[in-house]
Amino acid sequence: MALFAIGDLHLYFTGEDPLMLNGKIWQDRANRFITNCKNLITDKDTLVITGDHAYIKKPEELTPYLDYLDRIPGKKVLTRGNHDQFWEASKTEKLNEMYGDRAFFLQGNYFLYGEVGTKGYTYEGKDSLEHSEELVAREADRLESALISARDHGFAKIIIFLHYPPTNILQRNSAFTKLAEKYKAEQVVYSHCHGERRFNDSLKSRHHGVRYSLVSADFVGFVPKKILD
Ligand SMILES: [Fe+2]
Repeated sequence: MALFAIGDLHLYFTGEDPLMLNGKIWQDRANRFITNCKNLITDKDTLVITGDHAYIKKPEELTPYLDYLDRIPGKKVLTRGNHDQFWEASKTEKLNEMYGDRAFFLQGNYFLYGEVGTKGYTYEGKDSLEHSEELVAREADRLESALISARDHGFAKIIIFLHYPPTNILQRNSAFTKLAEKYKAEQVVYSHCHGERRFNDSLKSRHHGVRYSLVSADFVGFVPKKILD
């Protein structure tokens, strides 16, 4: 019943990788990832993939990705990344209706162990500070609703999955770290920071009693990180 996580696989099934991620660590990633998963994950385990899945634009286009995930043992839980155009937050229920027998879409809801998830947001200098603050507030609201719902349903062990890092490069605390502390989350797991220059953008150890882990695929070498035994 172990829980594993990884994010930012940036897979593609036809044509060229839109992001041109062609450094050595990204080469043959689809096959390497399957091999690594088969060596680690059993049918009893769960794998959470924290967004930036496969550049899919519409819910109807998910089948090749779900077929790919079917080759990995265990349950799959997916969260939203900034490249996941197929997934508007308001369509999460619909995605679970369409594909719930193959993967669980985690957004503003919760799953088996008390996992809660939302995309999150972090100021990266790409938009105005004002707009960025609005997005952080909206995502923090979504996270808090999910935390309340998990707590009200009796989950004692809360693990938060974000796509964006919980803090920006200048912060040690944020709306997300405060929520993790308020609801006594055991861990916060995130990705989005890929490329060596980004690996130290946010928290990667214990902070105010919460364990933070970066699970970007290139950071963990396409080997899912074990989050819980
Ligand atoms: Fe991302």
